[in-house]
Amino acid sequence: MDLGLDGARVVVTGASRGIGRAIAQTFADEGADLAICARSPEPLTEAAGQLRGTGATVVDQALDVTDEAALRAFVARAAHELGGIDIVVSNVSAGSSASPDQWQRNFSTDLMPFVHLVDEAEEHLAASARGGSVVLISSTSALHTSAPSGPKAYGPLKAALNHYAAGLARTLPARGVRVNTVSPGPTEFEGGGWARRRETDPDFYAGIRSRIPSGRLGTAEDVARAVVFLGSPAAEYITGTNLVVDGGFLDRV
Ligand SMILES: NC(=O)c1ccc[n+]([C@@H]2O[C@H](COP(=O)([O-])OP(=O)(O)OC[C@H]3O[C@@H](n4cnc5c(N)ncnc54)[C@H](OP(=O)(O)O)[C@@H]3O)[C@@H](O)[C@H]2O)c1
Repeated sequence: MDLGLDGARVVVTGASRGIGRAIAQTFADEGADLAICARSPEPLTEAAGQLRGTGATVVDQALDVTDEAALRAFVARAAHELGGIDIVVSNVSAGSSASPDQWQRNFSTDLMPFVHLVDEAEEHLAASARGGSVVLISSTSALHTSAPSGPKAYGPLKAALNHYAAGLARTLPARGVRVNTVSPGPTEFEGGGWARRRETDPDFYAGIRSRIPSGRLGTAEDVARAVVFLGSPAAEYITGTNLVVDGGFLDRV
């Protein structure tokens, strides 16, 4: 199947490692050009170099997505240097902790940057000849309350994002823009939180793994393939879905 991504112009936030990096790499492997950002310049430069190895044009910008002006300037620069924007992937999160401060961190890092990103990119997406597309990276933690979700800020803020994305998914198609959500379950990669937990809290890790019918945690590439499909013109009639990528972890209908 041709995903129709050759020469597509894709913005991915938080793409220097983990799921965001795998998403950017999978888009590049499909022939897309990329604009990527993260806070630390060195891993970002390294990721951009690897993406350029596919022949992709890559714009990389070190920034903190909580800085609205910097995020908007990055989107404007991406549109200028790539000649437009077809697809936007919102991937950054402040993660999960039980600290009361985490509510504000998830609000400013997960929620508001998605609002600003879509707002700044909307005109460019609406002008896309392929049809514009937005993919929000959410989490299975938005959809259940048992571990590792629990009574913390992360799940509720991801649930708020799901709600907002679902609303956009019904209004933006009038402008030729689709909006979808991908919700990974526990996803393991080198240097990530689950690889760390496997070492520091093996019982918790084993308990989570035992609840996944597929018998393993997800990989960043498992998630990336779903994101790239939903973002691509091959999914042109799909808007408003929340694609769960969790190996069967969630027990729900
Ligand atoms: N891993 C999982 O098990 C899992 C499960 C469900 C959902 N998810 C979701 O998947 C997404 C990616 O998760 P991940 O585990 O791949 O995350 P990660 O390993 O923490 O990577 C996050 C990326 O975002 C960048 N970043 C973090 N804060 C930033 C900020 N304020 N401004 C700009 N860039 C920032 C990081 O680089 P810098 O640190 O240099 O900024 C990095 O490139 C998140 O939305 C997460 O909630 C993950």
